[in-house]
Amino acid sequence: MTYKHTKTLDATKDFILPCKKDDLDAIQQFLPIEKPDFDGSFASHQLLYGSTGNRIYLVGIGEDKEASKLEEALRKFCFETQKHWDKSIQLYAENLDDEAVKKAVIGIEMAQYVIGVFKSSKEKQKKTSVEVVSSKPIKKCVSEGQYTGESINKIKTLVDAPPNIKTPEFLGDWASKSAKDGKYTCTVLKEKQLKKQGFEAVLSVGKGSVNKPVVIITEYKGTSKKKTDIALVGKGITFDSGGLSIKPSTNLHYMKSDMGGAAVVLGVVELVAKLKLDINIVGIVCSAENAVDAESYRPGDVIDSYSGKTIEIIDTDAEGRLVLADGLSYAVRKIKPDYLIDLATLTGSVVRTLGYHAAGMFTHNQDMAKSMSDIGYKVNERVWQLPLFEDYESDLHSDIADIRNFSGNPLAGATNAAKFLEAFTEAHDNWMHLDIAGVSFGSSSYAKMKSASGYGIQLITNFIKEKAIK
Ligand code: BES
Ligand code: ZN
Ligand code: ZN
Repeated sequence: MTYKHTKTLDATKDFILPCKKDDLDAIQQFLPIEKPDFDGSFASHQLLYGSTGNRIYLVGIGEDKEASKLEEALRKFCFETQKHWDKSIQLYAENLDDEAVKKAVIGIEMAQYVIGVFKSSKEKQKKTSVEVVSSKPIKKCVSEGQYTGESINKIKTLVDAPPNIKTPEFLGDWASKSAKDGKYTCTVLKEKQLKKQGFEAVLSVGKGSVNKPVVIITEYKGTSKKKTDIALVGKGITFDSGGLSIKPSTNLHYMKSDMGGAAVVLGVVELVAKLKLDINIVGIVCSAENAVDAESYRPGDVIDSYSGKTIEIIDTDAEGRLVLADGLSYAVRKIKPDYLIDLATLTGSVVRTLGYHAAGMFTHNQDMAKSMSDIGYKVNERVWQLPLFEDYESDLHSDIADIRNFSGNPLAGATNAAKFLEAFTEAHDNWMHLDIAGVSFGSSSYAKMKSASGYGIQLITNFIKEKAIK
Protein backbone atom coordinates (compact mmCIF):
# COMPACT_ATOMS: atom_id res chain seq x y z
CA MET A 1 0.00 0.00 0.00
CA THR A 2 1.04 3.56 -0.57
CA TYR A 3 -0.50 6.44 1.37
CA LYS A 4 -1.02 10.06 0.46
CA HIS A 5 -2.52 12.98 2.34
CA THR A 6 -5.12 15.04 0.44
CA LYS A 7 -7.20 17.95 1.70
CA THR A 8 -10.55 17.47 -0.01
CA LEU A 9 -12.74 14.49 -0.75
CA ASP A 10 -13.73 13.69 -4.35
CA ALA A 11 -17.25 12.40 -3.72
CA THR A 12 -17.53 11.03 -7.26
CA LYS A 13 -14.88 8.39 -6.55
CA ASP A 14 -14.67 5.46 -4.09
CA PHE A 15 -14.29 6.38 -0.45
CA ILE A 16 -14.38 4.97 3.08
CA LEU A 17 -16.44 6.78 5.72
CA PRO A 18 -15.56 5.85 9.29
CA CYS A 19 -18.67 6.23 11.40
CA LYS A 20 -19.08 6.39 15.17
CA LYS A 21 -21.93 4.41 16.71
CA ASP A 22 -25.27 6.20 16.25
CA ASP A 23 -23.57 9.25 14.75
CA LEU A 24 -24.63 9.29 11.13
CA ASP A 25 -25.13 13.08 11.32
CA ALA A 26 -21.36 13.58 11.12
CA ILE A 27 -21.26 11.96 7.68
CA GLN A 28 -24.79 12.67 6.42
CA GLN A 29 -23.55 15.15 3.81
CA PHE A 30 -21.83 12.30 1.94
CA LEU A 31 -24.69 9.82 2.04
CA PRO A 32 -26.84 9.21 -1.06
CA ILE A 33 -29.83 8.31 1.12
CA GLU A 34 -31.24 9.79 4.29
CA LYS A 35 -31.15 6.79 6.64
CA PRO A 36 -29.01 3.82 5.66
CA ASP A 37 -29.55 0.60 7.61
CA PHE A 38 -26.36 1.14 9.55
CA ASP A 39 -25.65 2.19 13.10
CA GLY A 40 -21.84 2.35 13.20
CA SER A 41 -21.41 -0.67 15.48
CA PHE A 42 -17.76 -1.58 15.96
CA ALA A 43 -16.22 -3.42 12.98
CA SER A 44 -19.45 -3.52 10.99
CA HIS A 45 -19.52 -2.17 7.45
CA GLN A 46 -21.92 -1.44 4.66
CA LEU A 47 -21.54 -0.61 0.99
CA LEU A 48 -23.65 2.12 -0.65
CA TYR A 49 -23.36 3.29 -4.23
CA GLY A 50 -22.97 7.00 -4.97
CA SER A 51 -24.32 9.11 -7.83
CA THR A 52 -21.56 8.08 -10.27
CA GLY A 53 -21.78 4.43 -9.29
CA ASN A 54 -18.83 4.94 -6.98
CA ARG A 55 -18.46 2.88 -3.83
CA ILE A 56 -19.15 4.48 -0.46
CA TYR A 57 -18.11 2.22 2.38
CA LEU A 58 -19.53 2.94 5.81
CA VAL A 59 -17.22 1.49 8.44
CA GLY A 60 -18.41 1.31 12.04
CA ILE A 61 -15.81 2.37 14.58
CA GLY A 62 -18.15 1.90 17.52
CA GLU A 63 -18.27 3.83 20.78
CA ASP A 64 -15.56 5.96 22.45
CA LYS A 65 -14.54 3.05 24.66
CA GLU A 66 -13.65 1.12 21.51
CA ALA A 67 -11.28 3.82 20.21
CA SER A 68 -8.20 1.79 21.19
CA LYS A 69 -9.29 -0.96 18.80
CA LEU A 70 -9.95 1.26 15.79
CA GLU A 71 -7.29 -0.43 13.71
CA GLU A 72 -9.11 -3.74 14.12
CA ALA A 73 -12.26 -2.29 12.51
CA LEU A 74 -10.31 -0.98 9.51
CA ARG A 75 -8.27 -4.13 9.25
CA LYS A 76 -11.31 -6.38 9.15
CA PHE A 77 -13.10 -4.13 6.70
CA CYS A 78 -10.11 -3.91 4.32
CA PHE A 79 -9.41 -7.59 4.59
CA GLU A 80 -12.93 -8.35 3.40
CA THR A 81 -13.43 -5.68 0.74
CA GLN A 82 -10.10 -4.59 -0.73
CA LYS A 83 -10.31 -7.10 -3.57
CA HIS A 84 -13.04 -4.89 -5.08
CA TRP A 85 -11.08 -1.64 -4.91
CA ASP A 86 -9.65 0.15 -7.90
CA LYS A 87 -6.16 1.60 -8.01
CA SER A 88 -6.95 4.14 -5.35
CA ILE A 89 -9.38 4.68 -2.51
CA GLN A 90 -10.01 7.64 -0.25
CA LEU A 91 -10.29 7.45 3.52
CA TYR A 92 -12.35 10.31 4.95
CA ALA A 93 -10.38 11.23 8.08
CA GLU A 94 -11.79 14.70 8.87
CA ASN A 95 -13.65 13.36 11.92
CA LEU A 96 -10.66 11.40 13.25
CA ASP A 97 -8.10 12.75 15.73
CA ASP A 98 -4.36 12.18 15.19
CA GLU A 99 -4.30 8.93 17.12
CA ALA A 100 -7.29 7.59 15.20
CA VAL A 101 -5.73 8.49 11.83
CA LYS A 102 -2.64 6.56 12.83
CA LYS A 103 -4.67 3.58 13.95
CA ALA A 104 -6.78 3.59 10.79
CA VAL A 105 -3.63 3.47 8.65
CA ILE A 106 -2.12 0.73 10.83
CA GLY A 107 -5.33 -1.28 10.31
CA ILE A 108 -5.30 -0.86 6.54
CA GLU A 109 -1.63 -1.83 6.40
CA MET A 110 -2.20 -4.83 8.66
CA ALA A 111 -4.82 -6.09 6.21
CA GLN A 112 -1.99 -6.43 3.67
CA TYR A 113 -0.35 -9.20 5.70
CA VAL A 114 0.21 -12.30 3.57
CA ILE A 115 0.33 -15.53 5.52
CA GLY A 116 0.72 -18.03 2.65
CA VAL A 117 4.28 -17.17 1.71
CA PHE A 118 5.20 -20.82 1.24
CA LYS A 119 2.31 -21.70 -1.08
CA SER A 120 3.52 -22.72 -4.54
CA SER A 121 0.97 -20.50 -6.26
CA LYS A 122 0.60 -17.13 -4.64
CA GLU A 123 -2.30 -14.73 -4.85
CA LYS A 124 -1.31 -11.59 -6.69
CA GLN A 125 -1.46 -8.48 -4.54
CA LYS A 126 -2.95 -5.36 -6.06
CA LYS A 127 -1.07 -2.10 -5.69
CA THR A 128 -3.55 0.32 -4.18
CA SER A 129 -2.97 3.86 -3.10
CA VAL A 130 -4.89 5.20 -0.10
CA GLU A 131 -5.64 8.91 -0.04
CA VAL A 132 -6.20 10.02 3.52
CA VAL A 133 -8.50 13.02 3.34
CA SER A 134 -8.36 15.73 5.98
CA SER A 135 -7.98 19.50 6.13
CA LYS A 136 -5.77 18.98 9.21
CA PRO A 137 -1.96 18.50 9.09
CA ILE A 138 -1.94 14.69 9.42
CA LYS A 139 0.98 13.78 7.16
CA LYS A 140 3.16 12.66 10.07
CA CYS A 141 0.39 10.48 11.56
CA VAL A 142 -0.12 8.83 8.20
CA SER A 143 3.54 7.94 7.75
CA GLU A 144 3.84 6.82 11.38
CA GLY A 145 0.82 4.57 10.88
CA GLN A 146 2.30 3.16 7.69
CA TYR A 147 5.72 2.43 9.23
CA THR A 148 4.09 0.88 12.29
CA GLY A 149 1.80 -1.33 10.20
CA GLU A 150 4.73 -2.40 8.03
CA SER A 151 6.82 -3.31 11.09
CA ILE A 152 3.94 -5.30 12.57
CA ASN A 153 3.60 -7.25 9.31
CA LYS A 154 7.34 -7.88 9.18
CA ILE A 155 7.50 -9.32 12.67
CA LYS A 156 4.40 -11.41 12.02
CA THR A 157 6.15 -12.88 8.99
CA LEU A 158 9.10 -13.76 11.22
CA VAL A 159 7.01 -15.36 13.96
CA ASP A 160 4.91 -17.34 11.46
CA ALA A 161 8.01 -18.55 9.57
CA PRO A 162 8.78 -22.28 9.82
CA PRO A 163 11.55 -23.32 12.21
CA ASN A 164 13.59 -25.16 9.57
CA ILE A 165 14.07 -21.82 7.81
CA LYS A 166 13.98 -19.45 10.76
CA THR A 167 17.16 -20.59 12.51
CA PRO A 168 19.10 -18.40 14.97
CA GLU A 169 21.46 -17.53 12.12
CA PHE A 170 18.46 -16.54 9.98
CA LEU A 171 17.36 -14.08 12.68
CA GLY A 172 20.90 -12.68 12.70
CA ASP A 173 20.84 -12.22 8.92
CA TRP A 174 17.41 -10.59 9.15
CA ALA A 175 18.70 -8.08 11.70
CA SER A 176 21.90 -7.37 9.73
CA LYS A 177 19.91 -6.66 6.58
CA SER A 178 17.40 -4.49 8.41
CA ALA A 179 20.22 -2.49 10.02
CA LYS A 180 21.91 -2.02 6.66
CA ASP A 181 18.67 -0.74 5.10
CA GLY A 182 17.85 1.42 8.12
CA LYS A 183 19.98 3.78 10.10
CA TYR A 184 21.25 1.58 12.89
CA THR A 185 23.97 -0.96 13.61
CA CYS A 186 23.91 -4.69 14.18
CA THR A 187 26.46 -7.18 15.51
CA VAL A 188 25.80 -10.90 15.42
CA LEU A 189 27.81 -12.91 17.95
CA LYS A 190 28.30 -16.48 16.73
CA GLU A 191 29.50 -19.58 18.63
CA LYS A 192 33.17 -18.62 18.84
CA GLN A 193 32.40 -15.12 20.12
CA LEU A 194 29.74 -16.43 22.50
CA LYS A 195 32.32 -18.77 24.04
CA LYS A 196 34.90 -16.02 24.24
CA GLN A 197 32.51 -13.58 25.91
CA GLY A 198 30.96 -16.15 28.25
CA PHE A 199 27.36 -16.53 27.04
CA GLU A 200 27.37 -19.97 28.66
CA ALA A 201 23.63 -20.26 29.28
CA VAL A 202 22.81 -19.44 25.64
CA LEU A 203 25.39 -22.00 24.51
CA SER A 204 23.99 -24.70 26.82
CA VAL A 205 20.43 -24.26 25.54
CA GLY A 206 21.67 -24.44 21.93
CA LYS A 207 23.92 -27.46 22.40
CA GLY A 208 21.42 -30.01 21.10
CA SER A 209 20.84 -28.34 17.75
CA VAL A 210 22.77 -28.26 14.48
CA ASN A 211 21.49 -24.69 14.17
CA LYS A 212 23.96 -22.93 16.39
CA PRO A 213 22.93 -20.13 18.78
CA VAL A 214 23.58 -16.45 18.22
CA VAL A 215 23.26 -13.25 20.20
CA ILE A 216 22.20 -10.27 18.13
CA ILE A 217 23.00 -6.77 19.33
CA THR A 218 21.35 -3.91 17.50
CA GLU A 219 21.85 -0.26 18.33
CA TYR A 220 20.05 2.89 17.26
CA LYS A 221 21.50 6.23 18.29
CA GLY A 222 19.06 9.09 17.88
CA THR A 223 20.92 11.54 20.13
CA SER A 224 24.52 12.67 20.49
CA LYS A 225 24.66 11.44 24.10
CA LYS A 226 26.77 8.37 24.83
CA LYS A 227 24.34 6.82 27.26
CA THR A 228 21.82 4.15 26.26
CA ASP A 229 18.35 5.18 27.37
CA ILE A 230 16.60 1.86 26.89
CA ALA A 231 17.82 -1.69 26.35
CA LEU A 232 15.41 -4.36 25.13
CA VAL A 233 16.16 -8.05 25.55
CA GLY A 234 14.20 -10.68 23.59
CA LYS A 235 13.81 -14.46 23.90
CA GLY A 236 14.63 -15.91 20.50
CA ILE A 237 14.01 -19.66 20.75
CA THR A 238 13.41 -20.56 17.11
CA PHE A 239 11.88 -23.90 18.10
CA ASP A 240 11.18 -25.16 21.60
CA SER A 241 10.89 -28.94 21.67
CA GLY A 242 11.41 -28.79 25.43
CA GLY A 243 14.78 -30.48 24.97
CA LEU A 244 15.28 -33.71 26.95
CA SER A 245 12.34 -32.64 29.17
CA ILE A 246 10.46 -33.06 25.92
CA LYS A 247 7.05 -31.48 25.32
CA PRO A 248 3.98 -33.49 24.26
CA SER A 249 3.52 -33.52 20.48
CA THR A 250 0.05 -31.92 20.42
CA ASN A 251 0.48 -28.39 19.12
CA LEU A 252 4.25 -28.73 19.24
CA HIS A 253 4.46 -27.16 15.77
CA TYR A 254 3.32 -23.89 17.34
CA MET A 255 6.57 -23.75 19.31
CA LYS A 256 8.10 -22.13 16.22
CA SER A 257 6.63 -18.96 17.74
CA ASP A 258 8.90 -19.08 20.79
CA MET A 259 10.91 -16.19 19.37
CA GLY A 260 8.00 -13.74 19.67
CA GLY A 261 9.94 -11.61 22.17
CA ALA A 262 12.94 -11.47 19.84
CA ALA A 263 10.67 -10.43 16.97
CA VAL A 264 9.31 -7.50 19.01
CA VAL A 265 12.84 -6.37 19.87
CA LEU A 266 13.98 -6.56 16.24
CA GLY A 267 10.83 -4.86 14.96
CA VAL A 268 10.90 -2.06 17.53
CA VAL A 269 14.53 -1.13 16.88
CA GLU A 270 13.81 -1.04 13.13
CA LEU A 271 10.70 1.09 13.66
CA VAL A 272 12.30 3.51 16.12
CA ALA A 273 15.10 4.06 13.58
CA LYS A 274 12.54 4.69 10.83
CA LEU A 275 10.67 7.16 13.02
CA LYS A 276 14.03 8.82 13.84
CA LEU A 277 13.11 9.18 17.52
CA ASP A 278 15.46 11.26 19.68
CA ILE A 279 16.61 8.43 21.90
CA ASN A 280 19.39 5.85 22.17
CA ILE A 281 18.29 2.24 22.29
CA VAL A 282 19.95 -1.16 22.19
CA GLY A 283 18.18 -4.40 21.26
CA ILE A 284 19.62 -7.72 22.42
CA VAL A 285 18.26 -10.97 21.04
CA CYS A 286 19.38 -14.27 22.56
CA SER A 287 18.59 -16.95 20.04
CA ALA A 288 18.92 -20.74 20.11
CA GLU A 289 16.99 -23.85 19.15
CA ASN A 290 16.00 -26.08 22.08
CA ALA A 291 16.45 -29.50 20.48
CA VAL A 292 16.92 -33.14 21.44
CA ASP A 293 20.26 -34.73 20.65
CA ALA A 294 23.14 -36.64 22.24
CA GLU A 295 24.73 -33.26 22.92
CA SER A 296 21.65 -31.66 24.51
CA TYR A 297 21.99 -30.21 27.99
CA ARG A 298 20.26 -32.36 30.58
CA PRO A 299 18.08 -32.08 33.68
CA GLY A 300 20.60 -32.33 36.50
CA ASP A 301 23.37 -30.48 34.67
CA VAL A 302 24.97 -27.46 36.30
CA ILE A 303 25.77 -24.79 33.76
CA ASP A 304 27.60 -21.48 33.80
CA SER A 305 26.22 -18.13 32.77
CA TYR A 306 27.43 -14.72 31.56
CA SER A 307 26.98 -13.38 35.09
CA GLY A 308 29.26 -16.03 36.60
CA LYS A 309 26.34 -17.52 38.54
CA THR A 310 25.99 -21.29 38.25
CA ILE A 311 22.58 -22.74 37.40
CA GLU A 312 21.24 -26.20 38.21
CA ILE A 313 18.99 -27.40 35.41
CA ILE A 314 15.81 -29.02 36.72
CA ASP A 315 13.85 -28.84 33.48
CA THR A 316 15.33 -28.24 30.03
CA ASP A 317 11.97 -26.84 28.91
CA ALA A 318 12.57 -23.80 31.13
CA GLU A 319 15.13 -22.65 28.53
CA GLY A 320 13.85 -19.14 27.82
CA ARG A 321 14.87 -17.82 31.23
CA LEU A 322 18.37 -19.22 30.66
CA VAL A 323 19.03 -17.38 27.41
CA LEU A 324 17.44 -14.23 28.84
CA ALA A 325 19.66 -14.46 31.94
CA ASP A 326 22.72 -13.99 29.73
CA GLY A 327 21.03 -11.20 27.74
CA LEU A 328 20.06 -9.34 30.91
CA SER A 329 23.52 -9.71 32.48
CA TYR A 330 25.12 -8.47 29.27
CA ALA A 331 22.74 -5.49 29.23
CA VAL A 332 23.39 -4.43 32.83
CA ARG A 333 27.16 -4.91 32.64
CA LYS A 334 27.99 -3.72 29.15
CA ILE A 335 25.14 -1.44 28.06
CA LYS A 336 24.15 0.06 31.44
CA PRO A 337 20.82 1.42 30.17
CA ASP A 338 18.47 3.71 32.08
CA TYR A 339 15.58 1.35 31.37
CA LEU A 340 15.81 -2.39 30.85
CA ILE A 341 12.86 -4.30 29.39
CA ASP A 342 12.76 -7.94 28.39
CA LEU A 343 10.06 -9.61 26.34
CA ALA A 344 9.52 -13.35 26.14
CA THR A 345 7.02 -16.07 25.38
CA LEU A 346 8.19 -17.43 28.70
CA THR A 347 5.56 -19.54 30.43
CA GLY A 348 2.43 -21.60 29.90
CA SER A 349 1.52 -20.37 33.36
CA VAL A 350 0.91 -16.80 32.18
CA VAL A 351 -1.46 -18.14 29.51
CA ARG A 352 -3.41 -20.00 32.18
CA THR A 353 -3.47 -16.86 34.35
CA LEU A 354 -4.31 -14.11 31.86
CA GLY A 355 -5.43 -15.98 28.75
CA TYR A 356 -5.03 -14.19 25.44
CA HIS A 357 -5.94 -10.68 26.53
CA ALA A 358 -2.97 -9.29 28.44
CA ALA A 359 0.73 -9.86 28.90
CA GLY A 360 2.10 -10.56 32.37
CA MET A 361 4.06 -7.54 33.61
CA PHE A 362 6.73 -7.79 36.32
CA THR A 363 8.65 -4.85 37.75
CA HIS A 364 9.57 -3.22 41.05
CA ASN A 365 9.17 0.22 39.49
CA GLN A 366 5.56 1.30 39.91
CA ASP A 367 5.96 4.44 37.76
CA MET A 368 7.14 2.31 34.90
CA ALA A 369 4.29 -0.15 35.53
CA LYS A 370 1.74 2.67 35.45
CA SER A 371 3.02 4.17 32.24
CA MET A 372 3.29 0.77 30.49
CA SER A 373 -0.21 -0.09 31.65
CA ASP A 374 -1.64 3.23 30.39
CA ILE A 375 0.02 2.77 27.00
CA GLY A 376 -1.28 -0.79 26.88
CA TYR A 377 -4.86 0.41 27.18
CA LYS A 378 -4.28 3.16 24.62
CA VAL A 379 -2.91 0.86 21.93
CA ASN A 380 -4.95 -2.19 22.90
CA GLU A 381 -1.87 -4.21 23.81
CA ARG A 382 -2.65 -4.55 27.48
CA VAL A 383 -0.44 -5.66 30.35
CA TRP A 384 -1.37 -6.84 33.84
CA GLN A 385 0.99 -6.69 36.76
CA LEU A 386 1.89 -9.88 38.62
CA PRO A 387 3.97 -10.13 41.83
CA LEU A 388 7.70 -10.41 42.44
CA PHE A 389 7.43 -10.91 46.21
CA GLU A 390 10.58 -12.01 48.06
CA ASP A 391 8.67 -15.03 49.38
CA TYR A 392 9.00 -16.70 45.98
CA GLU A 393 12.79 -16.59 46.13
CA SER A 394 13.22 -19.83 48.08
CA ASP A 395 11.59 -21.76 45.20
CA LEU A 396 14.76 -21.24 43.20
CA HIS A 397 17.16 -22.46 45.87
CA SER A 398 19.67 -25.06 44.68
CA ASP A 399 21.76 -27.14 47.05
CA ILE A 400 24.61 -27.56 44.61
CA ALA A 401 24.57 -24.41 42.48
CA ASP A 402 23.80 -20.69 42.91
CA ILE A 403 20.25 -21.03 41.59
CA ARG A 404 18.01 -23.61 39.87
CA ASN A 405 15.93 -22.95 36.76
CA PHE A 406 12.64 -24.37 38.07
CA SER A 407 11.11 -25.09 41.45
CA GLY A 408 9.80 -28.48 40.36
CA ASN A 409 6.27 -27.41 41.39
CA PRO A 410 3.58 -26.35 38.94
CA LEU A 411 2.79 -23.28 41.07
CA ALA A 412 3.09 -19.56 40.28
CA GLY A 413 5.01 -20.43 37.14
CA ALA A 414 5.09 -16.97 35.57
CA THR A 415 6.29 -15.35 38.80
CA ASN A 416 8.90 -18.05 39.36
CA ALA A 417 10.30 -17.45 35.89
CA ALA A 418 10.35 -13.71 36.53
CA LYS A 419 12.13 -14.21 39.87
CA PHE A 420 14.77 -16.25 38.06
CA LEU A 421 15.31 -13.40 35.59
CA GLU A 422 15.46 -10.88 38.43
CA ALA A 423 18.52 -12.68 39.80
CA PHE A 424 20.41 -11.60 36.67
CA THR A 425 19.42 -7.93 36.63
CA GLU A 426 21.79 -6.86 39.45
CA ALA A 427 18.82 -5.09 41.06
CA HIS A 428 18.45 -2.68 38.16
CA ASP A 429 15.97 0.00 39.31
CA ASN A 430 14.12 0.25 36.02
CA TRP A 431 13.83 -3.36 34.91
CA MET A 432 10.60 -4.79 33.55
CA HIS A 433 9.82 -8.28 32.31
CA LEU A 434 6.87 -8.87 29.98
CA ASP A 435 5.67 -12.46 29.58
CA ILE A 436 3.92 -12.39 26.21
CA ALA A 437 3.25 -16.14 25.84
CA GLY A 438 -0.52 -15.64 25.68
CA VAL A 439 -0.66 -12.62 23.42
CA SER A 440 2.09 -12.98 20.85
CA PHE A 441 0.58 -15.88 18.94
CA GLY A 442 -2.98 -17.19 18.80
CA SER A 443 -6.19 -17.56 16.88
CA SER A 444 -7.41 -14.70 14.73
CA SER A 445 -10.35 -14.22 12.42
CA TYR A 446 -7.99 -13.81 9.47
CA ALA A 447 -6.33 -17.23 9.56
CA LYS A 448 -7.58 -20.77 10.11
CA MET A 449 -4.67 -21.88 12.27
CA LYS A 450 -3.01 -19.96 15.07
CA SER A 451 -0.74 -17.19 13.88
CA ALA A 452 1.32 -14.21 15.03
CA SER A 453 -0.53 -11.19 16.44
CA GLY A 454 2.12 -8.47 16.17
CA TYR A 455 1.61 -7.72 19.89
CA GLY A 456 4.27 -5.53 21.44
CA ILE A 457 5.33 -3.27 18.59
CA GLN A 458 2.94 -0.46 19.47
CA LEU A 459 3.30 -0.97 23.23
CA ILE A 460 7.08 -0.73 23.32
CA THR A 461 7.42 1.90 20.58
CA ASN A 462 5.00 4.16 22.42
CA PHE A 463 6.85 3.62 25.70
CA ILE A 464 10.10 4.59 23.95
CA LYS A 465 8.40 7.60 22.36
CA GLU A 466 7.37 8.83 25.81
CA LYS A 467 10.97 8.64 26.97
CA ALA A 468 12.39 10.30 23.85
CA ILE A 469 13.31 13.99 24.00
CA LYS A 470 10.25 15.94 23.05
N1 BES B 1 8.07 -21.62 25.40
C1 BES B 1 7.52 -22.13 26.59
C2 BES B 1 6.37 -21.30 27.12
C3 BES B 1 5.13 -21.21 26.26
C4 BES B 1 4.06 -22.04 26.51
C5 BES B 1 5.03 -20.27 25.27
C6 BES B 1 2.91 -21.93 25.73
C7 BES B 1 3.89 -20.17 24.50
C8 BES B 1 2.83 -20.99 24.74
C9 BES B 1 8.58 -22.21 27.70
O1 BES B 1 9.87 -22.38 27.28
C10 BES B 1 8.22 -23.39 28.56
O2 BES B 1 8.24 -24.46 28.07
N2 BES B 1 7.89 -23.12 29.79
C11 BES B 1 7.54 -24.14 30.73
C12 BES B 1 8.37 -23.94 31.97
C13 BES B 1 8.32 -25.05 32.95
C14 BES B 1 8.98 -26.30 32.41
C15 BES B 1 9.03 -24.63 34.22
C16 BES B 1 6.06 -23.97 31.04
O3 BES B 1 5.59 -22.84 31.16
O4 BES B 1 5.37 -24.99 31.16
ZN1 ZN C 1 10.43 -24.42 27.00
ZN1 ZN D 1 10.31 -21.66 25.37
